[in-house]
Amino acid sequence: MASLVIDNIGSLVTNDESLGRGPLGLVEDASIVITDDVVEWIGPAGAIADRRIDADGACVLPGFVDSHTHLVFAGDRSAEFVARMAGQSYDGGGIRTTTDATRAASSDDLHALVAHRLAEAHRAGTTTVEIKSGYGLNVDDEARSLSIAGRYTDETTFLGAHLLPAEFDGRPDDYIDLVCGEMLRAATPEARWVDAFCETGAFDADQCRAVLDAGREAGLGLRLHGNQLGHGPGVQLAVECGCASVDHCTYLTDDDIAALAASDTVATFLPATDFSTRQPYPDARRVIDAGATVALASNCNPGSSYTTSISFCIALAVRDMHMTIDEAVQAVTLGGAAALRRDDVGRLTPGSAGHAVVLDAPTHHHLAYRPGVPLIRQTIGPLGES
Ligand code: NIG
Repeated sequence: MASLVIDNIGSLVTNDESLGRGPLGLVEDASIVITDDVVEWIGPAGAIADRRIDADGACVLPGFVDSHTHLVFAGDRSAEFVARMAGQSYDGGGIRTTTDATRAASSDDLHALVAHRLAEAHRAGTTTVEIKSGYGLNVDDEARSLSIAGRYTDETTFLGAHLLPAEFDGRPDDYIDLVCGEMLRAATPEARWVDAFCETGAFDADQCRAVLDAGREAGLGLRLHGNQLGHGPGVQLAVECGCASVDHCTYLTDDDIAALAASDTVATFLPATDFSTRQPYPDARRVIDAGATVALASNCNPGSSYTTSISFCIALAVRDMHMTIDEAVQAVTLGGAAALRRDDVGRLTPGSAGHAVVLDAPTHHHLAYRPGVPLIRQTIGPLGES
């Protein structure tokens, strides 16, 4: 049992009010002992262990929980981004471009791409990551994407209902039958969650409900993409079906917010997407003030949000969504954990996962105060220390 102490911590975010000050449970001049990947002890600086990391007065936080990514893909869509910055709008149609490239890629290449993106995310402070399929869109390639994702995380999500593949043009109900039948059976051994894209141009509420019902029947947890490109039924459907999370939530009515607040469905905001697609930002302030649980995630994908940087999401949420810095930090830790129905990550308390981020800064405020600056000095997590 090798133990590690992170010592000389200027400001430790525990996310446990019983351990420290305020909602983040801040402890000053602290040290934390991690044994076999689990937090063993938190207390004043000076603790002893087999190995020591000197934080040198810096801030330490729980590792970030990125509860929404699409890391299994091949190909490049930078030209689509360039066109968008020149005035074209985003409608999700580029998913087919990535599907073609992903189907054509070898499994070795896809593994290498996912490992590379994951290492990048880890260096940026992410220690728990959800990974969706959704660029295979046939039985074999969806199953292959999930088996690749499953090599890197337990939080794997079957997203066969991402977009209608070209070979099913004009036959969406046939495709939904395939997703709910053979494709789901092939996906289930590797998937923990099922998801669908509920949006004009993707799938309607009835089609998404069929996918969620079939996924539940197969023993999967439920999540949904909703209300990304306009108002729609996604949020209400997610709440009605008991989804763990409804993701995007860019366009919300008063009724949507009331439904979220009365439910335990997490509203997951993906502000890097709104940045990259020039959408308005979600009204997080109203959602939080209504009492809903919120998360922030990267939505790393080649079309609408090609970033693994949770720090960037925090800065956007604070600057443009009017979340406080404390709320944004909680949304990328505890919020992400809630969206994945996890209570072992997103906090640093005795017994929780020993996943931590050492900043190159004295407080967590710097994550928003110094946007664009690589402030993650060290990440301690399942990929080791980087
Ligand atoms: O969450 N909205 C659907 N899926 C992704 C976009 C995928 C793409 O454009 O390739 C998203 O934004």
